Amino acid sequence: MSIVIKQATLLDLPEIMKLETASFANDAWPEETFRSELGANHTFYILALEGDELVGYAGLSKLPGSDQADIQTIAVREDKRGLGIGRLLMNSLTQQATDLDAKEIFLEVRADNSIAQKLYKLFGFKQIGTRKKYYQPDGVDAFIMKTDLKLKKNKEPIVLGIETSCDETGVGIVRGNTLLANIISSSMDKHAIFGGVVPEIAARAHLEALTPVLDEALEKANLTLDDIDAIAVTNGPGLAGALMVGVGAAKALSVATGKPIYAVNHLVGHVGADILDRGELQTPTIALLVSGGHTSLLLVRDLLNDVELLGETIDDAAGEAFDKVARVLGLSYPGGPEIDRVAKEGNPAAIRFPRGLTLPKDMEKHRYDFSFSGLKTAVARHVELAESKNEEISIADVAASFREAVVDVLIKKAVSACEDFGVPRLLLGGGVVANARLREVAKEHCEANGIELRIPPFSLCTDNGAMIAIVGSQLIMAGRAPSTLDFSAESTLPVTTVQS
Ligand code: KG4
Ligand code: ZN
Repeated sequence: MSIVIKQATLLDLPEIMKLETASFANDAWPEETFRSELGANHTFYILALEGDELVGYAGLSKLPGSDQADIQTIAVREDKRGLGIGRLLMNSLTQQATDLDAKEIFLEVRADNSIAQKLYKLFGFKQIGTRKKYYQPDGVDAFIMKTDLKLKKNKEPIVLGIETSCDETGVGIVRGNTLLANIISSSMDKHAIFGGVVPEIAARAHLEALTPVLDEALEKANLTLDDIDAIAVTNGPGLAGALMVGVGAAKALSVATGKPIYAVNHLVGHVGADILDRGELQTPTIALLVSGGHTSLLLVRDLLNDVELLGETIDDAAGEAFDKVARVLGLSYPGGPEIDRVAKEGNPAAIRFPRGLTLPKDMEKHRYDFSFSGLKTAVARHVELAESKNEEISIADVAASFREAVVDVLIKKAVSACEDFGVPRLLLGGGVVANARLREVAKEHCEANGIELRIPPFSLCTDNGAMIAIVGSQLIMAGRAPSTLDFSAESTLPVTTVQS
């Protein structure tokens, strides 16, 4: 589904009226009312179109000289509800209200329409009063709701982002879409002897690193906490204990400074990183996020409103597979760079290792999912077998063949997602993006298929606070209300929850 928002004209009146009567039965506006609304110069009406079909509309009024805008109506066709169209319409209306210099937006909603109320709350609307029996003939009350646009008026908010979901303590600062600072402290060394991230050690390291990293970021941006407009923090997915350190710190900062707080999804942050690199995110895009903690394939139609998980790993993450196989081969941690280094001298076709979830029967159920644990076992078995026969193995060949198997599956599935959904763009993120072969194969396949390949600089691909700050600034610029302080750290937060 691809939805386009477009300004309404009088020519759209017949189609609008069809949807108006279908949506509001008893309370539908007469055609004449709608005609004068559409024609008035203090109103702004928009349509949501899927192809040529009208699937929703909404309207706002704002009198010149007034600080106040009113949402007049919003409707989404019944069979298209729950798909984010209401949010797209609201985004556009709040944007327009801001552009017209409104400081607050008001609306009335039926007391029995809890779905609409939920949508409005997402945009920061709070109930400020009730009009008894406002909707006739049903005699249903109207709730009067209002939201402030104070923050949004600051067109380029300065946002501080805190990221502690895994082993990187990151604090980043952005102004609007511009990167001001991106400071990272990694506890990777402390995990090396264990061959993987130890959650308790990561959490303790965040506690030690957070304040110095915060100070350094402010210094780098040449700002003080006073200059910051809002705080953004990763609240999931990730390691629970590690997340809690960042969430606790961010909440404390918010309470102490009185600055609003935005709880942000880590995976959406990886996608947002592209804005830091080129000033905007082009959508739709397929995003392949590969690190020690995740392997996710996303379809991003709109960063704040429409991120879909197409598939993910059903066992090990791609980076984790590199780390585990490196251990089998006697290489050090983190395994990715080591395997990359050794593989350069090897033959990628020497051993045909299995490609997880690519057989026709798997593709039916797991078209965009990944599995690396079978591959990891195959490598271990290959090494054991050689050892038991006292045969010498070429570590370079094993490393190159293993790397080839991982990269092959990752890129083939990502490129087929681009084709299946008609998306001409692929964005890569996560620490495994450092892999030389991954970049090479991605480039080849994308070029061959007319797909634009986006790889942000490596410092923005690995976990960092700037990617969280940038999602925060997008939320603010879209008029989203801050998160309330009752959000928690959620290790399995779904990617569809962009803000908690
Ligand atoms: O995004 P990241 O820094 O954070 C965590 O997931 O914590 O990713 C780290 C992961 C590790 O598993 C590491 O082995 C892998 O990324 N990695 C690589 C390469 N460099 C880092 N994997 C393959 N090839 C590389 N060159
Ligand atoms: Zn990550």
